[in-house]
Amino acid sequence: MILRSVAELPLKKGDRVLVRVDYNIPVNEDGLITDDARIKGTKDTLLYLLNKGAVPVIISHWGRPQGDPHPDMSLARVVPELQKVLFHRVNFLAQPFSEATKASVAASKSDEIFLLENLRFHDGERHNDIEFAKALATYGDYYVNDAFPVSHRKQASVSALPSLYKDPAAGFSLLREVDYFSKLIHAPEKPFVVIIGGSKIEDKVRSLRFLLDKVDEVLIGGASAFTVLRARGYDVGYSLVDEDLIDEIDDIADSEKVKLPTDFVAAPSYAEPDKSQVVLADDFPDGLQGFDIGPQSRKAFSGSISHAKTVLWFGPLGAYEERAFSEGSLEVAKTVVEATRKGATTVTGGGDSLAMLSSFGLKDDVTHASIGGGACLKFMEGQDLPGLVPLIKER
Ligand code: 3PG
Repeated sequence: MILRSVAELPLKKGDRVLVRVDYNIPVNEDGLITDDARIKGTKDTLLYLLNKGAVPVIISHWGRPQGDPHPDMSLARVVPELQKVLFHRVNFLAQPFSEATKASVAASKSDEIFLLENLRFHDGERHNDIEFAKALATYGDYYVNDAFPVSHRKQASVSALPSLYKDPAAGFSLLREVDYFSKLIHAPEKPFVVIIGGSKIEDKVRSLRFLLDKVDEVLIGGASAFTVLRARGYDVGYSLVDEDLIDEIDDIADSEKVKLPTDFVAAPSYAEPDKSQVVLADDFPDGLQGFDIGPQSRKAFSGSISHAKTVLWFGPLGAYEERAFSEGSLEVAKTVVEATRKGATTVTGGGDSLAMLSSFGLKDDVTHASIGGGACLKFMEGQDLPGLVPLIKER
């Protein structure tokens, strides 16, 4: 799949370009940004446009407001970070459709940047409303999507809006994401190892099915492993299990390509890490819950990864935020980094993976740490994403 690139647009000085980004970024209880990867990810596209003399008019969502304004979900919080990343002043437009906003965008001059308030404060965004899209289109001579993480949503700024343009284009961050994930689907160098972690296997079942005949091995950890172990008939104590899925994943549970942990670090509860112990998967004590893969599984997983030429990793292998349960994810992350140094292509997907790698200080040591979550999974299910379809130049 070849997408039209922003670099192909015949931009002239003063042209206004609507840039759909995804500034749906994690914040702490005080509302402070905890990870700016999604802001930094848009830097190349925005600087490219500025260098061409164009005026970026940035649009995004944050959170899931249901069509009403919420001050705690304002994109105003992004402005200082964005200004730092770009070394450039950003004009924030709190009332995207007011007369004053229309006037300032209409009077815009080369070298200016605008950021519109959260699009999900308007019902039209969620409903993929063409009238809402038309109102947005008055702000841009061109349209660029640089928001891979939201490209699986059929929403106005992602789907209806590009349909109004002759040549909607992809920004550099989106192009990078699609490039890496396409390679994994169509031409992965073998051996290809997929690592699945995280708490919910439900989200990943379809991607797993799609990938199963393309990969050499699938390593499953995190709470996802307990559901598969239960499907294989094991007892897993109090560990987190998706009961509804047990009878539906026989194909995955029975696959010879799927490698499960043979031991775990378990404790009575997450709040009692001091009572943790290593337990065997085939002799899991009743009163305990698994929070990490054990030492023998770490070794086995690392062994598979060290021979791989391509690695795709979705989700931490344990509750890594607690030190006592972080060893599995950390050791596997170090092995993935080592594989990268030896020439393997290593790609991670999902916000949890990104947060985990950041907390280990290893985010920049894999080939590609995607900023996408649900969009990566949908892409890896082989689905056409609504946000990408309008940008396709050639299949
Ligand atoms: C994400 O963070 O996954 C994207 O921004 C999409 O957000 P949504 O799941 O609220 O549509």
